[in-house]
Amino acid sequence: MRKRFIAGNWKMFNGPTATSEFMVNFVPKLISSKDIAENIKSKKMEVAIFAPFVSLSAAVKASGSSSLIIGAQNMHWEKSGAFTGEISAPMLKELGCTHVLIGHSERRHIFHETSEELHKKLNAALEEGLIPVFCVGELLEDRESGSTFDVIRKQLLAGLKGMDGNDVANNIIVAYEPVWAIGTGKTASSEDAQEVCAFIRKLLGDTFGEGIAVKTLILYGGSVKPENTEAILSMADIDGVLVGGASLKPDSFLGIAKAAVQ
Ligand code: PGA
Repeated sequence: MRKRFIAGNWKMFNGPTATSEFMVNFVPKLISSKDIAENIKSKKMEVAIFAPFVSLSAAVKASGSSSLIIGAQNMHWEKSGAFTGEISAPMLKELGCTHVLIGHSERRHIFHETSEELHKKLNAALEEGLIPVFCVGELLEDRESGSTFDVIRKQLLAGLKGMDGNDVANNIIVAYEPVWAIGTGKTASSEDAQEVCAFIRKLLGDTFGEGIAVKTLILYGGSVKPENTEAILSMADIDGVLVGGASLKPDSFLGIAKAAVQ
């Protein structure tokens, strides 16, 4: 059985002070929620927060020995150099991050990150021992013109080009986030999300082999809330959720983790 991965993407919310306040409330509840704690202990579930760069230290410190995973939302592909304003994988590692989002749709569409750049970032993360959560997803116009699968295929294969299958299965998490469902309140129906996640798993199977595809974690993201988590996670090919807005409040993110207990 694949484990569940429940991730909060805070985007440009929660500076260091707000992060500490969140953690003081959230971490004790996470630890004392028996079902969640048992699921985490028996490796059936992982819970992660992807915080802004400036809040990572506070998040790592406050997470303490709770097993809460702390990750960054982006990184540069070079280890160091003249790249004003950028942050590298070794820097994130040094802070205590273990995971990093790569290719979130806001990075692709607002900051125009290309598939080639994302491929380099994925390799750089792996090289540093960081687990990338690699995001793919179609725009509304792609869905309406019937090109969802084409877009997903291109994004996924460009990112994972030339990778070792074992890395894909063990060290990369894929997240399907339809852009039209992000921050809009419009969730893809569980069946629509499953259809694309099943397509992703099939594509991984065709590319890296069945054994790799069955092991790889695939998440859904886009207007996930405590109320729709269970239905989304009941789908065969969806192993977790990547949550934006509903991860900003301790109780709602905890509600999502509770709904994910297996
Ligand atoms: P949302 O964001 O849950 O607010 O729709 C999801 C994401 O962008 O990862």
